[in-house]
Amino acid sequence: MEHIVTGGAGFIGSHLTDALVSSGKEVSIIDNLSTGKHLNKKARFYRKDLRESSDVRIGSGSTIYHLAANPDVKSSATDTVEHFRSDVLTTINIMELARKHDASKVIFTSSSVVYGETNIIPTPETAQLKPISNYGIFKLFCEMIIEHYSSIYGIDYEILRFANVTGGRSEHGIVYDFVRKLSSNPARLEILGNGKQSKSYIYYDDAVSALLLASRLKRNECFNVGSKDTISVNEIAKTVSKQAGASPRMVYKDKLSGRGWAGDVRKMRLSIKKAGKLGWKPSRGSKEAVRLSAADAIKHPFKI
Ligand SMILES: NC(=O)c1ccc[n+]([C@@H]2O[C@H](COP(=O)([O-])OP(=O)(O)OC[C@H]3O[C@@H](n4cnc5c(N)ncnc54)[C@H](O)[C@@H]3O)[C@@H](O)[C@H]2O)c1
Repeated sequence: MEHIVTGGAGFIGSHLTDALVSSGKEVSIIDNLSTGKHLNKKARFYRKDLRESSDVRIGSGSTIYHLAANPDVKSSATDTVEHFRSDVLTTINIMELARKHDASKVIFTSSSVVYGETNIIPTPETAQLKPISNYGIFKLFCEMIIEHYSSIYGIDYEILRFANVTGGRSEHGIVYDFVRKLSSNPARLEILGNGKQSKSYIYYDDAVSALLLASRLKRNECFNVGSKDTISVNEIAKTVSKQAGASPRMVYKDKLSGRGWAGDVRKMRLSIKKAGKLGWKPSRGSKEAVRLSAADAIKHPFKI
């Protein structure tokens, strides 16, 4: 059976591809290489822009891991149409691919942002879905499209609502942003918001193990994937600075709103009880995930 990874040259997709290849699976990557650059040579590669079409021949009964998207929440406030194309159109095209080629299953990487700014923390899957960013709205829309195709065409699915995923090969997100800023000027670190935003992080290997578990399930449901704790933006700034050997002056932008950007959810911790019952648990907490991720990012030279 073929395993198709969209966005397989990107951060999470490339680690997933490596895991599938090393367990002897036949893997095909579909990616337009817009940001992704990590191609596993043992996987078949289709260079394809999924905003335009998904005209690729895949074997019937394939499992599709659909990760291709623009994961930048911040830019979805201003590049809305482009985000719609990258996040939603790609998903419609992938569900069409699944329908036409009789795929057995689609696994989708959704996000904690579909819940918006809820008071229920830890947030269970049953909480109200009230996203506060375009990215969150589009992820929720994608979830609905996948559920719809499943009910009409009988394509199985699992939806994973990820907390923040971090670690080597990631070229977006707070750890990468801080390391990049410090490598440019170790004396000053700009922090978006008041630094008190507090969220849950997982290291990429836990995201991959959840995706692999999802491939073995047959539930047609969603489940949260996160850690049991959180870390604040100020703590992340200290961790990254320490690892980089820097003692920067912290400069806050938009300190009053407390949000880093329009649509920033200030507090996020997901309930992972359901994932636990399904057989998944994180192997480390947010602080260790961030520390490892900072070490990964510092090891690699930056293009500034
Ligand atoms: N990283 C996180 O913290 C996080 C959290 C929640 C959900 N997610 C979701 O997980 C998935 C993977 O995220 P990531 O962090 O690895 O992102 P990434 O940017 O590293 O990877 C995305 C990949 O998709 C490809 N791609 C983008 N648009 C495409 C298109 N139109 N056609 C074909 N390929 C395209 C890119 O070239 C890249 O290789 C995304 O769907 C993201 O929304 C990520």
